[in-house]
Amino acid sequence: MQKIWDPQRAGQIIEDYAEVKGGLIEALHALQAEFGYIDEAVYASLARGFNISRAEVYGVVSFYHDFHNHPTGKRVLKICQAEACQARGSRQLTKEIRELLGIDFGETTRDGEVTLEPVYCLGNCAVSPNAMLDNRVYGRVTSERLKTLLKETQL
Ligand code: FES
Repeated sequence: MQKIWDPQRAGQIIEDYAEVKGGLIEALHALQAEFGYIDEAVYASLARGFNISRAEVYGVVSFYHDFHNHPTGKRVLKICQAEACQARGSRQLTKEIRELLGIDFGETTRDGEVTLEPVYCLGNCAVSPNAMLDNRVYGRVTSERLKTLLKETQL
């Protein structure tokens, strides 16, 4: 269960990793594991802790698709928007899933269950289009299959 954002606890996590080589990524993972996202309010502390600029922190958080800078739903559904998946219908799939869930990319359903996000290649192009649900990749997906997966694999 993820906790409510706590700046003091976030500061402790940053301190724990500040002296570790490659500690920024580990600190970001630890923050996300604890809170479910990395609040932008902590970017300045991260920058100080790792002796880099706030812009660099932002760059790292936004580069890695696994990091979130806002709270997410209990489940995260990502639909691949890269070329191979687009050639095999990911745009239509995305349209159908947006309609099904009633949300756009970056949004969470009203019940807090599902956050929808784009992703740019999951390394599974041969079986496009691809989606990732709760960190598991599914190939040759259709909106019907995703609908079933959302029900079957409910947490
Ligand atoms: S383009 Fe979608 S998995 Fe590679």
